[in-house]
Amino acid sequence: MDKTLAILKPDCVERKLTGKALDFILSRGFNILALKMVHLNPAEARRFYAVHRGKSFFDELINFMTSGPCIPLVLEKENAVPAFREIIGATDPAKAAEDTLRKLYAESVQRNTVHGSDSEENAQKEIAFFFSLMEIT
Ligand code: CMP
Repeated sequence: MDKTLAILKPDCVERKLTGKALDFILSRGFNILALKMVHLNPAEARRFYAVHRGKSFFDELINFMTSGPCIPLVLEKENAVPAFREIIGATDPAKAAEDTLRKLYAESVQRNTVHGSDSEENAQKEIAFFFSLMEIT
């Protein structure tokens, strides 16, 4: 079975949407293999989002992702990476399809509630960023 890395972002935790987001994810057939709450520091956030370094929104992104705790998850499903991208919707909630996590809960492009890996290769890297092998069931 395939795996992907999701993050319930600081806006999700702050607005107490964690339960609703987890319920949505489970109801769409994903298994949760690992889950933890972490408060990223700036160096960690910059490392996680290194691919966006130099972009106009990079500093804002780092400020937001370090503004409070977030919840990384390892999810399992057939074709987990594209399947999860489908249920979260477009990065910009205004463009997200109906009945997606971002359409339902996201406030803006930045405060967009949830992250999902965008490729199989990145999923492996992102899972290893947050979790050791022993932490994944
Ligand atoms: P995410 O899927 O976590 O990957 C990178 C994040 O950068 C993205 O979600 C958005 O939260 C953020 N992002 C992407 N584009 C913009 C933008 N134009 N302005 C602000 N934030 C952005």
